[in-house]
Amino acid sequence: MLRPIFPSLVLVLALCAGTSLSLVSRRLTEYQLPVATQTHELARVPGSNFLLVSQMSNSHLIKIELDPDSEEPVAFQSFPMGKSNESGLHGVWPSSKYPGMMWLSLQSENKLLLVDPSQNLSAVPSIIKTIDIPEPGNGPHSIFEIGNRVWAGLKVASEQTGQYYVFSADVANTNDAVLYPCLNSPVFIQEEPTTRLIYVTQDTASSIMSINVTSGETAQLPIPPAVGNTPVGMITAYSQLAGVWFTLVGNATGGSGSFGHIGPTGELQFFQLQKPMLGANAGLLHIADASTVEGGPALWLLSTSLLSTNSSDALIRVTFDDAITSVTGEEYVSIPTQNAMAHRIAVLNATVLVSELNTFTIAQLAYSNTVAGQWLPAQVTGDNTVYEEAG
Ligand SMILES: *[C@@H]1O[C@H](CO)[C@@H](O)[C@H](O)[C@H]1NC(C)=O
Ligand SMILES: *[C@@H]1O[C@H](CO)[C@@H](O)[C@H](O)[C@H]1NC(C)=O
Ligand SMILES: *[C@@H]1O[C@H](CO)[C@@H](O)[C@H](O)[C@H]1NC(C)=O
Ligand SMILES: *[C@@H]1O[C@H](CO)[C@@H](O)[C@H](O)[C@H]1NC(C)=O
Ligand SMILES: *[C@@H]1O[C@H](CO)[C@@H](O)[C@H](O)[C@H]1NC(C)=O
Ligand SMILES: *[C@@H]1O[C@H](CO)[C@@H](O)[C@H](O)[C@H]1NC(C)=O
Repeated sequence: MLRPIFPSLVLVLALCAGTSLSLVSRRLTEYQLPVATQTHELARVPGSNFLLVSQMSNSHLIKIELDPDSEEPVAFQSFPMGKSNESGLHGVWPSSKYPGMMWLSLQSENKLLLVDPSQNLSAVPSIIKTIDIPEPGNGPHSIFEIGNRVWAGLKVASEQTGQYYVFSADVANTNDAVLYPCLNSPVFIQEEPTTRLIYVTQDTASSIMSINVTSGETAQLPIPPAVGNTPVGMITAYSQLAGVWFTLVGNATGGSGSFGHIGPTGELQFFQLQKPMLGANAGLLHIADASTVEGGPALWLLSTSLLSTNSSDALIRVTFDDAITSVTGEEYVSIPTQNAMAHRIAVLNATVLVSELNTFTIAQLAYSNTVAGQWLPAQVTGDNTVYEEAG
């Protein structure tokens, strides 16, 4: 009798499947790396299944292999970079001029490296090019390639002058190098796509410097204290979001949930989280483009507990009105480990990665049966009740 029952059971299951709905879900999975007190930057090696993560406190580079379909980290190898565990590996940035190669910075050795990370997990990254930062420059922190030049923010006061500088050199002729004096202390460096001006966030001085590479002229755009302070993360965006976007991380009392944009006019334009679900003190350290065909123009913002435990560790996706004048949608994803000091965002194809400075971890956000931008924010119910009784 088993045989006749089986087809009807299949039919019943098929009917159930036809009438039920797939559950939409999102999950943030944490992956532990070797123990280190500072896990900093991360970047995918373009066109490969490898991701590089810098651990600065012991100057190690973690090479992580990703599953090509799910993008999940599946294996890693750790490599010492520089002369010792005090070489201060920090910056990690993909080269376009040398496809498949990656730029690294050794802050304490005052060096930039171009490396071939190799698409063999266990192979030691090989050094293709070394750039020594000339005096009086000191302490290359974050590193970028813009057009045919490599740029680095020199985060440490010069031993010769006590000043801070932004370094730039032609990738093919590194003797063609420039040091631009700046304020304390340069972090992110990006190019505004219309004017081609270079913008630099300076965290402690709470100001953004512009550089006209043609004339060599620089100017300062101070962040108005009423909006917030401490600009750090900065990206170049195109299309509807065109311009550079930057975040303000705040100070020891927390952040202000503020971030900003600079377009062709060179004016600072500020935006603020409208409905902060994780406290009003989001300290926004880093930023990434979250725009998709389905979801339209959007940004990922990373709130961190790095400067104040008044700020949560959270990944926040914001959307805008059509004219990009105000924030209209906010999705909050709390990092599972709070006080993790969330540090950088890396956007893959369908998932998003976050590095946790304080917990030698990377976290990966993945959606099932939906895509980023379709998750309904909790404010959809319009219920802002704060209950007076528990239970
Ligand atoms: C660096 O190496 C020295 C000597 O091998 C060791 O004593 C020290 O604990 C190491 N420090 C870190 C942060 O790994
Ligand atoms: C990968 O690199 C390791 C270490 O250099 C080497 O032993 C191994 O043969 C390499 N594997 C392949 C497939 O090239
Ligand atoms: C940069 O400087 C050049 C040379 O002085 C000038 O022609 C150009 O207009 C400047 N760019 C901007 C955006 O001001
Ligand atoms: C921290 O930032 C807040 C808000 O911008 C400001 O009122 C306060 O003076 C700042 N504190 C310090 C120590 O700079
Ligand atoms: C949080 O912010 C308040 C002021 O808004 C400040 O008094 C307090 O010290 C801060 N706490 C921490 C842990 O930063
Ligand atoms: C990128 O992700 C989308 C889903 O968001 C998927 O349909 C597509 O196949 C992925 N492409 C690659 C190259 O993995």
